[in-house]
Amino acid sequence: MEPTPAAWADADTYLADLLVGHDPDLEKVLEAQRAADMPEIEVAPLAGKLLGLVARISGARRVLEIGTLGGYSTIWLARAVGPEGRVVTIEAEADNAAVARTSIDAAGVGDRVDIRVGRGADVLPTLVGGFDLVFIDADKESNTIYLDWAAKLGHPGTVVVLDNIGRDGEIVRDDSTDPKVIGTQEGLRMLAEDPRFDATALQTVGIKGWDGIALALVV
Ligand code: DHB
Ligand code: MG
Repeated sequence: MEPTPAAWADADTYLADLLVGHDPDLEKVLEAQRAADMPEIEVAPLAGKLLGLVARISGARRVLEIGTLGGYSTIWLARAVGPEGRVVTIEAEADNAAVARTSIDAAGVGDRVDIRVGRGADVLPTLVGGFDLVFIDADKESNTIYLDWAAKLGHPGTVVVLDNIGRDGEIVRDDSTDPKVIGTQEGLRMLAEDPRFDATALQTVGIKGWDGIALALVV
């Protein structure tokens, strides 16, 4: 096979059909997002399942998400924490939060999910810590602020997942003027240099193109 974006997407779909399958609640989330003209930048199904598995493998009970969008990844995390667990998710856009609220409730996990509307930098200082897993998937320009709060609101053993670390390979450009690329590079440098983290990163190709996630432990 030629390693083209179309071939990556076909293989991604093959794997998602096998390992995620048909999930009416999650498919409705995407329909609601589309109907509201929200960008289709939620995590791919296999990545959502990975988030849920990481949460379960780490035994996370309190999860913090930065960047709710339509609630797609939120539902994966809420399912993973179980009925006694809690997800706090921060969304800057009130319209997005309203769509997410409806979808999360319809998926049957609304009682575990607390949506806080506001900019991350404003909401994060108001939260009580003790989060076991933090998923950062918001404006890339603020990645270092979010990582700092992830460490402060976490504890040794907290898992941090940072989305969108590949950005079509643009991360290697030291002359980039794209604020999203620069924010991604700054986040990765922080994960490398800040002694509070031990981190790695995985590139991904698939229905979302060429991107990736960083996975870190608060040490
Ligand atoms: C963008 C943001 C995301 O969280 C994502 O998964 C893909 C793209 C963006 O802002 O470009
Ligand atoms: Mg993302």
